[in-house]
Amino acid sequence: MIAVVGATGNTGRAVVKELARLGQAPLCIVRNPDKAHEVLGAGARIAVAELSDRFALVQALKGASTVFVVTGHNPDMVTQQNNVLDAALEAGVQHLVRVSGSRFFVRPDSPSVIGRSHYAIEERLRASGMKWVILRPGFFMQNTFAQAPLIKNDGKMVLPFPADLPFAFIDVRDTGAVGARVLLDPAPHVGKIYEFTGAKSNFAEFADVFSDVLGREITYVAVPFEQAEQVMRTRGMPEWLIDHQRTARQIAMDGGLSGETMEPIRSIAGREPITTRQFIEDHRAVFA
Ligand SMILES: NC(=O)c1ccc[n+]([C@@H]2O[C@H](COP(=O)([O-])OP(=O)(O)OC[C@H]3O[C@@H](n4cnc5c(N)ncnc54)[C@H](OP(=O)(O)O)[C@@H]3O)[C@@H](O)[C@H]2O)c1
Repeated sequence: MIAVVGATGNTGRAVVKELARLGQAPLCIVRNPDKAHEVLGAGARIAVAELSDRFALVQALKGASTVFVVTGHNPDMVTQQNNVLDAALEAGVQHLVRVSGSRFFVRPDSPSVIGRSHYAIEERLRASGMKWVILRPGFFMQNTFAQAPLIKNDGKMVLPFPADLPFAFIDVRDTGAVGARVLLDPAPHVGKIYEFTGAKSNFAEFADVFSDVLGREITYVAVPFEQAEQVMRTRGMPEWLIDHQRTARQIAMDGGLSGETMEPIRSIAGREPITTRQFIEDHRAVFA
């Protein structure tokens, strides 16, 4: 049996939906069953466990042979994901597939607690005896959901990245397509780290595609990080998340989010990565 931890999130739900398309009924491990039924469908197989509750995780994972793990940005993520790993080991899980960050983030000296946490989680996973696979997707197209009110109301995207800075965006459904196939047959992938993205573009081009698909002008406005930081503070964003955004921007400015790596999507999922146009067309209701 395949289990998915974080099944209600962006990536987790894409994995669950792809597994369903491939004829599987994975066990979705969630904290909120109402949300789970809403986003995964009334027929989804669900077990409830908080990531802080190791006992509940062990109970949920009993009978699972392979587990997919994705959790959100969170300063407690080391404890949370180590709980999942310990529970998986105790429950007899054989393979663990996890979503991580870019190799430029995942470092012991990352200025972002998220980068340091991913590093610590991976070090422990490698030493645990569990058979593992690590996925490093690029910058999510779904991050633009946060821009939806601006796109809808003001016809603008406002972000602290230069308009022409190369960015290899990825739709989380590509991670779903890769992840589901790795879960179905993990043995050939054990010990591998897959980095993958969609086609190289930039935010000016992304805004042009928004204009084209939505049929009205969407302008990309690049702002200095200091200006974006002020807005984040006004909105009450915690310091660790502002630090993470600053780190992401620096990595992007150094070219760390520019590299196009489509081969794992082609070879594992057997198709081309999803384009920005497809992403916007499929989520038109969010932006229109
Ligand atoms: N954003 C990017 O561009 C990007 C790029 C590369 C890698 N990443 C990595 O991708 C990951 C985020 O992926 P995502 O956007 O798919 O995540 P997400 O949408 O935030 O989903 C997180 C999932 O974890 C669950 N969860 C969070 N806290 C929990 C708790 N205490 N107990 C039980 N469940 C809990 C959430 O449940 P609820 O639905 O109930 O909240 C949700 O199902 C991060 O590790 C990030 O570093 C992100």
